[in-house]
Amino acid sequence: MGIFDEMAREGHEQLVFLHDSESGLRSVVGIHDSTLGPVLGGCRMHNYDTEEKVIDDVLRLSLGMTAKSAVTGCNHGGGKAVIWGDPDTDKTEALFRAFGRFVQSMRGRFCTGTDMGTTGEDFLIAAQESEWVVGLPDYAGGIGDTSVTTAYGVFCGLQAAADHLWGSGDLNGRTVVVQGLGKVGARLVEHLIEAGCTVIASDVDERRARRLEASFPVKIVGPEEIYDIDCDIFAPCAMGGVLNEDTVERLKCQIIGGAANNQLAHEDVGHMLFERQILYVPDYIINAGGLIQVADEVLGYEPERVRLKTEGLGQLLGRCFSLADELDVPPFEAADRLVEERIRKIAKVGRIFLV
Ligand code: NAI
Repeated sequence: MGIFDEMAREGHEQLVFLHDSESGLRSVVGIHDSTLGPVLGGCRMHNYDTEEKVIDDVLRLSLGMTAKSAVTGCNHGGGKAVIWGDPDTDKTEALFRAFGRFVQSMRGRFCTGTDMGTTGEDFLIAAQESEWVVGLPDYAGGIGDTSVTTAYGVFCGLQAAADHLWGSGDLNGRTVVVQGLGKVGARLVEHLIEAGCTVIASDVDERRARRLEASFPVKIVGPEEIYDIDCDIFAPCAMGGVLNEDTVERLKCQIIGGAANNQLAHEDVGHMLFERQILYVPDYIINAGGLIQVADEVLGYEPERVRLKTEGLGQLLGRCFSLADELDVPPFEAADRLVEERIRKIAKVGRIFLV
C-alpha cells in the first residue's frame, strides 16, 4: 500500500517528514485528526528496521492519541512523532535542537513531549527551539514525568474492571502479572503490592527486574513464561501488539489491562478475547493518565485536578463496560463508539457560523 492509501485507511490528516543532514535527524510527525483542537502527542525514538515500520508506528500511535483525547474529554487532536534512531547511541544536542525547530515551525498545531526512548532531558534541549514542548522535568520548572500519573490511572482502571467483573474493586488477594518494569510498570507494581496483590513480573532487561525484586515482594519470571501463568489480571506495560493469536490462546487470566499502547495486534484478537470471556480494558482509556497530565499543563497545571481526572478514568471505564454490555460488543468497540460520538458532536458545533 502507498502512503496515501495508508493515510486514507484511518483518515489521517497529515504526515510531516523531518530531515536534517547535519544532525542526522530523520523523524515523522503524524497528525491523525485535529477536530477537537491543537494536536498533542509524545515523541518516540526507536531504531526501526525499515522506513515502512516508522510510518506504520506513527500512523498507529497518532490514531490512538485521537481516541485517547476524545474519550477523556480533552480538547486536543491526536498526533505523535517518531524519531528514527537508536536512543542509546544516536542522541545529540543538535538532533533534538533540529527536532525542536521543526516542531516550532508547526506554530502550535503540534505540541509534543516524551514517549518511549525519549526523556525530559531530551526535551529540555528541544525546548530551546520550541515553545510547543510539554512535560519537562520538574527541576527545570516543568510538570515532571507522566509515568507516575499513568501508573495511577492504570491502577484505578484495574479497580474499575474488577468492580465490573467481580462486583468489588478491591484487589486485595488478587494475582497480577505485570509485563515490563519500566517507568510505568514499576510504579504500577508499587500500587498493586500496597493494595495486597500477589505480583508476578518480567522484563527483558534482567537488571531492571532484579532491581525491583530487591525492593518489593514480587516473583520474577522470564519474558516468555509470562503468558502461561495462572492469574486474575494480566497487565501489559511494555511494547504494543503483545496480544496476538498465539498469546491470547495461552493467557489464563480474567482481566487484561495495562499501560502499553496498541496492545491488540489487530481487532480480531479483541474479538477472540471477548469470546474467551476475558475482559480486555481498552488501552487508550486505562493509560490516559499521562495525556491528562500534559493536557492540564496546557491549561495551567493543577495537580489536584489531574489526580481527580485520573481517578475519573475508573468511572469512564465503568460507562464503557456498561455500554459494551448493552450493545453486546467488546469494550474496545464500545470505547471506539464513545470516541466517534464525541468527535462527531463537537465537529457539528464547530460548523455553527459565528458573526
Ligand atoms: P519504559 O521504556 O520506561 O519501560 C518499558 C519496559 O518494558 C522496559 O523496562 C523494557 O525493558 C521492557 N520491555 C520491553 N519489551 C518487553 C517484553 N517483551 N517483555 C517484558 N518487558 C519488556 O516505558 P514506559 O514509559 O514505562 O511505558 C510503558 C508502555 O506504556 C509503553 O508502551 C508506552 O508507550 C506506554 N505508555 C506510557 C506512558 C507514560 O506516561 N510513560 C503513557 C501512556 C502509555
